Amino acid sequence: MRHFIDICDFDKKELNKIIQNAKRIKKNPKKYYQICQSKTLGMIFQKESTRTRASFNIGFNKLGGHSIELNADSIGFGKRESYTDIIKTLSQYIDILIIRNDDHNIIKKLGSLNVLPIINGLSDLSHPCQILSDFLTINEKLGDIKNQKICWIGDYNNVLRSLIELQNLYKFKLNIVIPKEILKKNETQIIKKRNKNLMITNHISEGIKFANCVMTDTWVSMGEKSTKKKYFKNYQVNSDIMKKASKNAIFMHCLPAHRDEEVSSELLDSKNSVVWQQAQNRMFVQQAIILDLL
Ligand code: CP
Ligand code: NVA
Repeated sequence: MRHFIDICDFDKKELNKIIQNAKRIKKNPKKYYQICQSKTLGMIFQKESTRTRASFNIGFNKLGGHSIELNADSIGFGKRESYTDIIKTLSQYIDILIIRNDDHNIIKKLGSLNVLPIINGLSDLSHPCQILSDFLTINEKLGDIKNQKICWIGDYNNVLRSLIELQNLYKFKLNIVIPKEILKKNETQIIKKRNKNLMITNHISEGIKFANCVMTDTWVSMGEKSTKKKYFKNYQVNSDIMKKASKNAIFMHCLPAHRDEEVSSELLDSKNSVVWQQAQNRMFVQQAIILDLL
């Protein structure tokens, strides 16, 4: 049984196949209208979500399947009954489950039961669906990912961890710009992932030079304390900062954005910003992930 829990669980050949399929679905959605007929997707969100919830639900319906969201409180997920007993029960009715959870280990444990395919819809540790669909967006906007120079400015978080895993596979240039206080807290983990194309700095000017793609995300992820915001006050991505990157560099953000915090409102709405295409591609890539697992 296969699961989609982390980018690092896959090799390039497998990920390329998912991306190629996502492109096919995007180009010719009608061909896939019945491919998941009589299949059911379960969805459990223990944290807020707009894009992941909507794109999985609508995406699966467009494949001819049926989806059901099980409200974690209503089913007493891990409270009324153990996580594992709930998953074993659900596997009697549903074919595949996407779960968003605060504890990555729970998602891994549910996967290891091998009673139904599990998709990680974001955990404290990673956000593989986001980064795989960003791979498609980069490919559409800029071409082969191996030739890109991506600059991440912001927190060391779930989205960045998945991006680093993608970089470790495809070896594109990745410059990570993070405040030194955040770096200090995560140094040992980050250093382990270093390679000749992965650079870490706390100077925006150093990291953004020659970048043709600039990415950021919220300074405070769901479930974290807002006290860390103070470290980021000089790390907003805006049009002035984008001038230091390559000409016509694209701006990416997984959303939700906190306008005029990590990104200025004018940059988010500018022609450099590809955030709506990013949101759109979530659906096609997730449809391809589902087809790969089923
Ligand atoms: N980018 C993303 O996963 O958005 P949601 O949190 O709204 O699902
Ligand atoms: N890092 C963010 C991503 C949201 C999609 C969070 O975990 O809140």
